[in-house]
Amino acid sequence: MNLSPNGGLARTEVLILRELLSSDGDYVSGQKLAKLLGISRVAVWAQLQKLEGQGFTFEAARSHGYRLMQTPAGLHEALIEAYLAKRRRPLHLCCLERTDSTNSEAERRLATGEPVPFVVLAREQTHGRGRRGRPWHSAANGNLYLSFAFRPQIVPAQLQDFTLWMGLNVCELVANFCRLKPGLKWPNDLLIEGRKAGGMLTEARVDADQVRDLVFGLGLNVNGRAADLPPELRRSATTLAEAAGGPLDLNKFVAALIGRLDLAYAQFIEGDYRDTFASLWKRHDILRGRPVTIIQGVRTVHGTATGIDDEGSLIVRLDTGRTERFRAGEVTLGKEVA
Ligand code: BTN
Repeated sequence: MNLSPNGGLARTEVLILRELLSSDGDYVSGQKLAKLLGISRVAVWAQLQKLEGQGFTFEAARSHGYRLMQTPAGLHEALIEAYLAKRRRPLHLCCLERTDSTNSEAERRLATGEPVPFVVLAREQTHGRGRRGRPWHSAANGNLYLSFAFRPQIVPAQLQDFTLWMGLNVCELVANFCRLKPGLKWPNDLLIEGRKAGGMLTEARVDADQVRDLVFGLGLNVNGRAADLPPELRRSATTLAEAAGGPLDLNKFVAALIGRLDLAYAQFIEGDYRDTFASLWKRHDILRGRPVTIIQGVRTVHGTATGIDDEGSLIVRLDTGRTERFRAGEVTLGKEVA
């Protein structure tokens, strides 16, 4: 089920919320809202009542108007749209109550010709998937399941460092928004204090040596509790809320994240990201100089990670003394296999 089924009314909600948010906690008169929306003051009041039913609270003061006091804790499409008001280019957003996988949903929408870029979010995934066909635990618990869809028209080789670049931007956003120190574990894990807080899954459809459809999927443990994860994940996982010492404003965070990733994608396509990539990589790479174990199919090697090359491959000085580059593989910190 779409969390904002009625396009027209959803638009009205976005405009109301945008106006109330931009007043910075001041009152906005009912008359101003009515004029802006081209509806009566009674209709404005009815819209606010409806929003109250969705978890918002407003304070109404005679002769002053309304002000926004509280926003819902769960994903709210119109609120995210309202926060995203100042973005550079149009972007369609779709918040679902539940889906099999936001990546699959994005792929289906791409196949039917939906204009790009668009973002699919869900409160819950029934078949969330991670790398190597693993399941991604996706309960409706305040965590984030998001997929960004694009049609880049580039050659597949250009995608080599795409996931790392997007991951670095997720790290920066988390660092700035939550005052945390996230790190990237090559190739796709976001860690905080050594525990996994998120993972990325990029999927592409290639036709005649051109990337036609591109989906960047992100699972991020935001407001859930690590204790609610399956037993095998509990010890090695964390959530942003636990690391930050309190829940995040999910909708505000999601809007900031979407804005950042939209910009990151544009920089990537314009080729205008290499210098920033290098400095962000220095800041967020958690493997450099550390002993690692790499599993590639049936082969397991030990060594020390020394960085990545221009193509995003991991460079490892093996214990045998040889240096090798890895395009893919499962990396564990330390000399033991997890
Ligand atoms: C991993 O660490 O293995 C990657 C996990 C990626 C999970 C996200 S959740 C949103 C999107 N939809 C999916 O089915 N997977 C990705």
